[in-house]
Amino acid sequence: MNIEELRLENLNPAAFIDQKIREISEMVGDNLAVNALSGGVDSSVVTMLGHKALGARLKTYFIDNGIMRHDEPQQIASCFEALRVPMEIVDAQKHFFQALRGLTDPEEKREAITRTFYKDVFSHLVQESGARFLLQGSIYTDVEETVAGIKRQHNILVQLGIDTEKRFGYKVIEPLIALRKPAVRAIAKALGLQESIYKRPPFPGPALAARIIGEVTKEKVDIVRKATKIVEEELGHTGAFQSLAILHEDKVTGIRNGQRDYGLQIEVRSWESSDATTGKPMRLSFDTMETLAERITQEVPDVVSVTYSITKKPPSTIEAV
Ligand code: XMP
Repeated sequence: MNIEELRLENLNPAAFIDQKIREISEMVGDNLAVNALSGGVDSSVVTMLGHKALGARLKTYFIDNGIMRHDEPQQIASCFEALRVPMEIVDAQKHFFQALRGLTDPEEKREAITRTFYKDVFSHLVQESGARFLLQGSIYTDVEETVAGIKRQHNILVQLGIDTEKRFGYKVIEPLIALRKPAVRAIAKALGLQESIYKRPPFPGPALAARIIGEVTKEKVDIVRKATKIVEEELGHTGAFQSLAILHEDKVTGIRNGQRDYGLQIEVRSWESSDATTGKPMRLSFDTMETLAERITQEVPDVVSVTYSITKKPPSTIEAV
């Protein structure tokens, strides 16, 4: 790996921002650039840097894949509207659900999401826009994990020796490639992004599909989305690194309205962790767990069982898929 890490303690956010704006502007020149905004801290920072460097010569797309959390596309849009940064929401839901149809294997599901994003949706947008540059929010840890073979991060191309210019007709610019997440958060704050963005808990690229065991359908996404909203409302202020709801594939017997009812199971996980490489369950109060169970069984249709994971990572992982 020939990238030198820029550590948080050596980072001067204002100087870094100035330098990256200059670099992006010099590289792109009079051409156009595009980027995909997910609302995560990395892509939000790249959007802001690109906007400051290029103004209207940057086209920012938000791909609505249909597997985001409650109101997520609208919330991100209003954050950037408030900052007067233009972005376009692209409704690509049907592409993603089609690609996920019938898939149950976790890696196949992840692969389908990546492929749909790049091949079926984003590459068309890049080509239509006529852009010669793609701004991307890859960070140091993405490269590290991909090169080490821990995880195939979908945004790592150049470091794997892929010549994007030859293959796709555009060059990739990665302004955050020397930074780890805490440094990116510091830049986000210095750029004036809202706290909801620079303190945003991690959320996986495969979104709610990472929390559905078995086939991902629109109906299952709706269920896990409702449960996720409750979990985030109840556990958002506990200081947990990440809290999530998982929809299981197996049904279990429960009782509803005095009748036996074969219903759904939701598993809640809430993690204490510093960097997601290891983690342990938050020691939630029993009252909190009871509230979660009450709300999820009452507000999410067909759920008859709510469990709390008490397993550490490893051997568990943070997400379920
Ligand atoms: P796991 O489940 O591997 O998750 O223990 C570790 C951390 O990474 C997040 N995660 C992802 N982030 N793309 C991402 O950008 C992904 O494909 C992905 N999968 C997991 C997860 O939420 C946790 O913070």
